[in-house]
Amino acid sequence: MGPIAYALLFSLAAGLVVAEKSDYCLSEIVKSDQRIRSHGYPAEAHEVVTEDGYVLTLFRIPYSHKLQNQNQRRPPVLLQHGLFSNSDCFLCSGPDNSLAYLLADAGYDVWLGNARGNIYSRANQKISLNSYKFWHFDWHEIGTIDIAAMIDYIIDVTDFPKVHYAGHSQGTTVYLVLLSERPEYNDKIATGHLLAPCAFFAHGTSFVFNALGPLVGTPGGIWNQLLVDTELIPHNNLVNRVVDNGCHLSDAICKNAFVMFANGGYENANSSSMSVLVETHPAGSSSNQGIHYLQLWKSHAFRQYDWGTKKNNELYGQDLPPDYDLDLITAETHSYSSHNDALCGPEDVDTLVSRFTHLTEDHRVPVQSFNHLDFIIAKNVKELVNDPIIERINEYESR
Ligand SMILES: *[C@@H]1O[C@H](CO)[C@@H](O)[C@H](O)[C@H]1NC(C)=O
Repeated sequence: MGPIAYALLFSLAAGLVVAEKSDYCLSEIVKSDQRIRSHGYPAEAHEVVTEDGYVLTLFRIPYSHKLQNQNQRRPPVLLQHGLFSNSDCFLCSGPDNSLAYLLADAGYDVWLGNARGNIYSRANQKISLNSYKFWHFDWHEIGTIDIAAMIDYIIDVTDFPKVHYAGHSQGTTVYLVLLSERPEYNDKIATGHLLAPCAFFAHGTSFVFNALGPLVGTPGGIWNQLLVDTELIPHNNLVNRVVDNGCHLSDAICKNAFVMFANGGYENANSSSMSVLVETHPAGSSSNQGIHYLQLWKSHAFRQYDWGTKKNNELYGQDLPPDYDLDLITAETHSYSSHNDALCGPEDVDTLVSRFTHLTEDHRVPVQSFNHLDFIIAKNVKELVNDPIIERINEYESR
């Protein structure tokens, strides 16, 4: 890890400390629906309220203006972003390359999810955004509550019995969490596509693990107690300015901002796509999401949040948190992973594949340099990932 990466890490940490919870102004950024319209496509924004009061924004590309297929059958697809991210990640490479637009042009009704806590889903009907209680959640709740609510909402609006799903990074974790914790949702999935699947972390090579893992990966530790239930790397002017200026100053700085995702090397990255991402990223998340991932890195297990023995016993009735039972996931699911992924690398994917008894197919991107973020920003993501996903969805629909 180079000095630039350290500088950025410190800026992010500073951002964490100084950020006021609601200081940024949503009206200043181009929102996903505006972005979609600027590319000529129809766009909608829907609000979904979860059982615990979070107000989530789902963006939608209901049809393609190129196909004029608004009166035809359009099976729904839900796209779910990763940690620190939001719905823009499926739009940032524009209409010719991004998964959302390619799916719309293939005749699908495209829904873009936003997890609680990100810039598009920062409200709760019962809890103030400024309360630490607002941030008392983890990707466990995003999976079991948010994704479930999104799927039910889409099924309700579209009248289709099932939804196709594609998720990146944390968007894969929450899929695994939902289908193992609430297995009745397997029947609501037509096909699932996991991009850079993240469940096991024993081999993560990113500096993030080594720098932060020992501090917060152990339950009950001082760092853990200080950081629990707060907003992690919020979207705020300072962080944004550092990264944005960095991107304008030099490609190298910009690429270092994303260094945590790759084992070095950004030969596949589309710089324009990165600049689009930077406008609305980092998008906001709870510290518990990051802490939980670091716990997995330490424990080598894919299991629920570790609160320490006392609270674990209260919550789970056992000393250690229970594992997510991957045997319960029966929906047709495809995994797409890559060699150069520093967060969820090939050995950890091997572990996932070996435990995921009903996995339909394990696809490995054939380009060695392809990394974690390339599933979103690579110049070659269309041929290597997006087109194959659409072919498999088409194949399902032609049965
Ligand atoms: C790179 O990103 C830009 C900005 O979104 C987009 O217009 C362009 O088509 C992308 N190119 C490739 C090859 O992905």
